[in-house]
Amino acid sequence: MSNIVEIDNVMKTYDLGEGIKVKVLRGVDLKIEKGEFVTIQGPSGSGKTTLLNVIGGLDKPTSGKIIIDGTDITPLNEKELARFRREKIGFIFQAYNLVPLLTALENVELPMFFAQKLSDKEIRERAIELLKLVGLEKRMNHKPTQLSGGEQQRVAIARALANEPAIILGDEPTGNIDRAMGQKVIRLIQDLNETLNQTFIVATHDPAVAKASKRALYIVDGKVVEKPPKEYVEAPTEKLTRERRQLLLAELGWLKTSLTYLKEKKTEMDPQRYRRTFLGYKMQLERIKRIIKKYHALESEKN
Ligand SMILES: Nc1ncnc2c1ncn2[C@@H]1O[C@H](COP(=O)(O)OP(=O)(O)O)[C@@H](O)[C@H]1O
Ligand SMILES: [Mg+2]
Repeated sequence: MSNIVEIDNVMKTYDLGEGIKVKVLRGVDLKIEKGEFVTIQGPSGSGKTTLLNVIGGLDKPTSGKIIIDGTDITPLNEKELARFRREKIGFIFQAYNLVPLLTALENVELPMFFAQKLSDKEIRERAIELLKLVGLEKRMNHKPTQLSGGEQQRVAIARALANEPAIILGDEPTGNIDRAMGQKVIRLIQDLNETLNQTFIVATHDPAVAKASKRALYIVDGKVVEKPPKEYVEAPTEKLTRERRQLLLAELGWLKTSLTYLKEKKTEMDPQRYRRTFLGYKMQLERIKRIIKKYHALESEKN
């Protein structure tokens, strides 16, 4: 079986209450083979993030089936999904999501600590190798704030690779960085795809990213199609805000899982390092919660 992703008639409907339902995914069928680099385009609000989130087990589809690397993930519970994510999925977010108080090296080491498959020494060695791979071995001991956006994204890519995931999912990975840096990130993804045969699925607005991929797909009317739609209509700003919130919710879910792993590892970790990691996650959680609160306040003002 060479398909690493098999999606069969997946629907996702958001229930907004008071009888209002938003059908975002309306029967997605999609097969992706190991070693593909696939991009998914579509206007804001078309469901790109929703699709990535259900593939990565950050959200559940309303119906349909999702098989990743031979496992049907649709019947899994929260705990099983968390384990699935840790073992099979690498995530690259638009906002990088590096732990602020940890160095680049420590950030890349984290998922390997959680997976508990390698010794501390092996983890260190592999993290250095991965940072070399993304061209950042000289920045190893820098904290995220001491790195440019493009560099932070490359650290995030090294981190995504750490546990040899079946697939790496990227949600607008060049959305926050300038063009030149974005180009570097795209080329890196291309390289890793070629040399490691690493499968990537990337949602993007950026035609340059789509062009670099092996297969460019589109979401049209809640379905995934191979042909571009005739016209792109950019969504109004309100939808962009919703999209931003959706991203934040995904980040929140991901952070919470990471915190759970971290707590499980507490007794085995160097206390100093545990503290810094814990505080780092807390800072991120607080940041995201603050933004979500602000969003809610804006929403209720309108009503
Ligand atoms: N948690 C949610 N609750 C209600 N509606 C949502 C939620 N998440 C996303 N949506 C809606 O689903 C649609 C698709 O959103 P999204 O997947 O973020 O699209 P994209 O990433 O393509 O911009 C949008 O109309 C959005 O408003
Ligand atoms: Mg999105």
